[in-house]
Amino acid sequence: MISIAIDGPAGAGKSTVAKAVAEELGIFYLDTGAMYRTVALKAIRGGISTTDREKLSSLVNDIDMKIAFEGKEQHMILDGEDVTELIRSPEISIGASNVSAIPEVRIKMTELQRKFASENNVVMEGRDIGTHVLPGATIKIFLVASAEKRAERRYKQLLEKGEKNISLEEITKEIEYRDKNDSSREFAPLLKADDAIEIDTTDLTVYQVANKIMNYVKQKVEI
Ligand code: DC
Repeated sequence: MISIAIDGPAGAGKSTVAKAVAEELGIFYLDTGAMYRTVALKAIRGGISTTDREKLSSLVNDIDMKIAFEGKEQHMILDGEDVTELIRSPEISIGASNVSAIPEVRIKMTELQRKFASENNVVMEGRDIGTHVLPGATIKIFLVASAEKRAERRYKQLLEKGEKNISLEEITKEIEYRDKNDSSREFAPLLKADDAIEIDTTDLTVYQVANKIMNYVKQKVEI
């Protein structure tokens, strides 16, 4: 099986690039952040604080969460409802960062992610894929970009999705909060794996980054 791990902070360009690489290779793309986002939505809907370890530990044990694919496009299904778009709000971003710091939540998500990679060739995107989920990944990429650029990208993305009640200032704060939270948690924090290739995407286009990754892939795998 081929597995390409793409990690990095919010707004570094992981999703767009991971999708492009997966498409080029004709393999699956798995956005693991969407899984943490779905857990956060479930908690918020149930009036559970996203930092309540005890309640979230039992919530993840019987959550009805499914990953469905339309073609190669990932959809998140929660309690039978397609929540793919709903989980993109800034509130859920912060909630996802909070629930992701809870070890029991991570253990459950990691289990599902490893199972997926054992059954499918995949480009998997997240924070701990190269360091924790798939330490034996075929290729590991760590994307970085300046904080300003990352906030700007997220802001534009949300505007394009039709979010109206947001400001660049709010998004910058959200990103700063998540950077700190995701990097400082004890269990599987956001970290570059020793054997990961770091790419600074600040001044690069999606095409340029995807191209660089494809060149590494071609050196490693016969395609
Ligand atoms: O990639 P994203 O912005 O959709 O992720 C939302 C949050 O989920 C992020 O702030 C941290 C958490 N996350 C994680 O801890 N580990 C992953 N593999 C993916 C996401």
